[in-house]
Amino acid sequence: MAQTLARYDQFAHWYENWIGGTTPLIASCPDLLPPLPGARVLDLACGQGRMSRYLASSGAQVTGVDISAAMLGKARAAGQENITYVRADVTKAPAWWDGRPFDGCTCELALMDIDDLTGALATVAAVLRPGGWFAASIVHPCFPGNEKGLSSWPPDEGYDHEGWWISPDHNRDGARIRVGATHRKLSTLLNALLAAGLATECLAEPPATVPTFLLWRCRRS
Ligand SMILES: C[S@@+](CC[C@H](N)C(=O)[O-])C[C@H]1O[C@@H](n2cnc3c(N)ncnc32)[C@H](O)[C@@H]1O
Repeated sequence: MAQTLARYDQFAHWYENWIGGTTPLIASCPDLLPPLPGARVLDLACGQGRMSRYLASSGAQVTGVDISAAMLGKARAAGQENITYVRADVTKAPAWWDGRPFDGCTCELALMDIDDLTGALATVAAVLRPGGWFAASIVHPCFPGNEKGLSSWPPDEGYDHEGWWISPDHNRDGARIRVGATHRKLSTLLNALLAAGLATECLAEPPATVPTFLLWRCRRS
């Protein structure tokens, strides 16, 4: 387990320069997102806000929540004052929530940065209206590694070894050598979604010779 949950505080500037305004994976899979105009959408672990900005630009009313003050500073500095940003740990009961249900929730490339999957999914289920959607992207849990980076799991362990890990051998140019990653087996992920009352509706794997990213959309029962 890492020392602090706000691991990105010290890398926010680096992350901003690295990821910049690149299109979120979720936005690159148009079939994944239901119609956005007028929808109330929570962007879970929004970071520097690129997914939040995409949602707001598409007509959604957006609340972005993240634990890192430095990442939220980058998000606010990017403008788009119609987005509400909140600093909070998304694995805890959402004390920041005004009780008005969200129509949808996104989580772009962040669940492998969140230590408590059950807690995060409980928040998603709590704030979504019945029938609300949850669209997410992660480093593919079956990612066996390629020339660009290590696998989803520790290199000296196997697929069964779940939990947070970091390695100096991670891709030098990427986020993981800096903040590490939490590996969970595909079955752990899917079972956790089911247990939270989030039924998988659609899966996507962007074209790749090895499975690098996994995306899905669920519905809250
Ligand atoms: C790789 S960044 C992704 C940020 C953004 N979604 C994007 O696509 O650029 C992962 C984010 O998860 C946030 N995070 C990790 N654990 C969290 C928690 N328990 N509660 C809220 N945010 C968390 C980090 O602070 C970081 O901003």
